[in-house]
Amino acid sequence: MQNITILGSTGSIGKSTLDVVGRHPEKFTVFALSANTQHEVLLEQCLKFRPKYAVMRDESGAQRLKEGIAEAELNTEVECGVAALEKIASLPEVDIVMAAIVGAAGMQPALAAARSGKRILLANKETLVMVGQLFMDAVKENGAVLLPIDSEHNAIFQVLPREGSLGGGGVKRILLTASGGPFRNFSKEALERVTPDEACRHPNWVMGRKISIDSATMMNKGLEVIEAHWLFNAGADQIRVVVHPESIIHSMVEYIDGSILAQLGNPDMRTPIAYALGFPQRIDSGVESLDLCRIATLHFEEPDFSRFPCLALAFQALKAGGAAATILNAANEVAVQYFLEKKIRFTAISEMIEQTLSELGALPLDTLEEAIEIDRIARDVASALLSKVA
Ligand SMILES: NC(=O)c1ccc[n+]([C@@H]2O[C@H](COP(=O)([O-])OP(=O)(O)OC[C@H]3O[C@@H](n4cnc5c(N)ncnc54)[C@H](OP(=O)(O)O)[C@@H]3O)[C@@H](O)[C@H]2O)c1
Repeated sequence: MQNITILGSTGSIGKSTLDVVGRHPEKFTVFALSANTQHEVLLEQCLKFRPKYAVMRDESGAQRLKEGIAEAELNTEVECGVAALEKIASLPEVDIVMAAIVGAAGMQPALAAARSGKRILLANKETLVMVGQLFMDAVKENGAVLLPIDSEHNAIFQVLPREGSLGGGGVKRILLTASGGPFRNFSKEALERVTPDEACRHPNWVMGRKISIDSATMMNKGLEVIEAHWLFNAGADQIRVVVHPESIIHSMVEYIDGSILAQLGNPDMRTPIAYALGFPQRIDSGVESLDLCRIATLHFEEPDFSRFPCLALAFQALKAGGAAATILNAANEVAVQYFLEKKIRFTAISEMIEQTLSELGALPLDTLEEAIEIDRIARDVASALLSKVA
């Protein structure tokens, strides 16, 4: 029996995780859950899974949750804030931490899990983008086990040789697949006019709003390129993005003998979640079998860096090193929020990121404190660009 903490349990990945966990009551106990604002959803989850801890982001949310917990006469302890998230990620009773908070807010608790040597199921790719070196060092130094949840990286993990990196086993490169998002065939002019609701309507995946916008700009693929670099020790020139609109092949690894190994499945995040929960065994995920005869045809094409400049910016940040990826991530979070609030055009997202990167230039990054400070500065710089790019 393993105790699991789910950071961000009320989100898309969090709910899928509870779905898989709920299928295996003999294997997993829910130890702690967390949410940002959705205290009613968290209360429902507490009623069903009876965790020891439930953490809200702030005091007022925690107060509301406490009232519900008291009314239901549950024993769940309610806490709030970043320190409480770090606590439920690192307590000795915890075996597994699902890191599924969205954005930079997920970084500190994920790092706490790494520093406590947990088995970390990492959905929060922003952690690796912001502090890749620090996070990977913390995993190694503390004997943590890192399992990628992003379907692409989970697929790569499944088809890589057991060493788990590009260092050995005759691996040539990674072929990172991308659906191309809802605007794959849109012209530059049409992209000027798209709305947040259209951008959130992904053709294959149901996801939170931030990652949906990232998919529409292809920044999601850019963040994944940086994530693949850290997870698999791959250089920028060893990662090729391949647009594959059906999202059936979740990614591939090419070997020096000409073989390409792929992992296929229906686009449902419960597959990578179940793989990581059960690893090295396979466990039931509840996902339907993939019917290849019904799918019949798969398509592949080159990404268009000129219509989707966010992808090019991410490659640029990876090659630049230092704090570039941290700046890219912060500016992207600010720009996506402005777009969701209808304050800027869709195409202004990449403009805001590019200008923030060029204003801040090359900065070194060696510590967590520096990462937090650079993240703050980049958010200020990006916010100040609002009137210029809108
Ligand atoms: N969805 C996918 O299919 C998918 C696939 C691959 C990777 N990922 C990655 O997984 C992560 C989660 O994505 P998602 O789609 O599940 O996002 P989501 O649906 O927006 O859920 C985000 C979760 O984080 C919580 N949260 C948000 N802001 C927070 C803050 N400031 N402090 C503490 N908690 C906060 C939310 O709480 P509330 O519900 O209360 O707002 C929610 O539980 C992202 O990093 C994403 O890139 C997602």
